Amino acid sequence: MAPSRRDSIFREGGIEKLSIDYVPERLPHRESELERIVEAFKPFLGHPHAWRKVLIHGPTGTGKTVTAKKAGEILSNISKGMGIGFKYAHVNCRFERSAFSLVQEIIRQTVPGLPLRGYGPAEYLRALFGHLEDNDEILLLALDEVDHLFAGIGDDILYALTRASEMAEIPQRISMILIARDAEFLRGLRPQVLSKIRPDEALDFKPYGQSDIFDILSDRVEWAFISGSVSPEAIGFISKNASLIGGGDARYAIQLLLTAGLVADREGSKRILPEHIREAQEKIDPRIGHEDLLALSDEEKHVLLAIAKALRIMEEAVHAPLEVVRDYYRMVCEELGMPAEEPPLEATLGRLKALGIIDIEEGIGISLLLMRARALEESLEAALLAPSGKSNGPPFEGRIPKS
Ligand SMILES: Nc1ncnc2c1ncn2[C@@H]1O[C@H](COP(=O)(O)OP(=O)(O)OP(=O)(O)O)[C@@H](O)[C@H]1O
Ligand SMILES: [Mg+2]
Repeated sequence: MAPSRRDSIFREGGIEKLSIDYVPERLPHRESELERIVEAFKPFLGHPHAWRKVLIHGPTGTGKTVTAKKAGEILSNISKGMGIGFKYAHVNCRFERSAFSLVQEIIRQTVPGLPLRGYGPAEYLRALFGHLEDNDEILLLALDEVDHLFAGIGDDILYALTRASEMAEIPQRISMILIARDAEFLRGLRPQVLSKIRPDEALDFKPYGQSDIFDILSDRVEWAFISGSVSPEAIGFISKNASLIGGGDARYAIQLLLTAGLVADREGSKRILPEHIREAQEKIDPRIGHEDLLALSDEEKHVLLAIAKALRIMEEAVHAPLEVVRDYYRMVCEELGMPAEEPPLEATLGRLKALGIIDIEEGIGISLLLMRARALEESLEAALLAPSGKSNGPPFEGRIPKS
């Protein structure tokens, strides 16, 4: 008999497909940027004199690092086909404490066996330039988080990296991709350094929209999870969170997907349910606590309790239709012995949305963003049934950035 499958919704090796360093086969919504980078460096392939500098800038999780690495892969394959000696090095400047360690890291990635004489970064660089020249090789160097370089090491090293031709009367065999969250760092460079590394091309990576993230996650779901374990609704819910709360950050989205998958596994579930995603949201980016709930008005507490109850019972649904929430709201009012007059539900829902606790999709329904329905229900019931039921703390003003 075949051994029984391990009890997990992840494929064998699936978790790896969700790791930070994984470079996927394709990059949805970065195809044009990728092409521009590859095109920018093509002239460099056959002509070491035609060295280029490309800047990639944009907020966190917009695919700067992964797109640079992908461009390195593609250019490496093109070079192979052309019989050109091409090396790609990707160094994160945040982790390099000195010019020396930076140069050592570049050499470790490109020519690990390079015999080194001398003890300083200048000698090491000269050895690297000499090696490239002797072997007719070119190097594409990605300096990631390059803005971090200047705080510690300063800009001398950038200058030195562009000085091969002046130092030894040889062509500049190093082209560069500079990566930073903000292009402002260029202003801090000394004029002589800036004139050397001023980008030939600058690409501004914008945060991903909700549907972009949906496409990115759909690929990862296919590669990482057993078929049928993550529904399009679940992917849509994660994309919404990554967009509304995570600000369009693909890393946030992938981390949410991974965490929700691990929660589903822990629960022995065959699928990722909305409650698993809400728990993952609580884990990776906690934004609301018990005190925040206490600070809501009674009206808001009642409506939120109705939403929590509806979503807990409708286990599979991301959204509770407005009419269902209205029914639960009436039940909550009844249980609390409140007057049975028609409640002004919409206005309260609008306030809860403004606080970032729920989202409302016209014609579809209401989703709960920041915490598990079950935990919310328990907290609110405890608060409402407590003797005073009132908060002592400051009003909850929401912690979701408005942008
Ligand atoms: N278009 C895309 N397609 C597939 N995966 C993507 C895409 N964009 C980003 N990712 C994935 O999202 C995560 C974050 O991307 P990346 O590390 O490139 O962001 P970044 O812009 O370098 O962020 P930071 O400024 O924080 O370094 C990575 O796991 C990456 O593989
Ligand atoms: Mg990065």
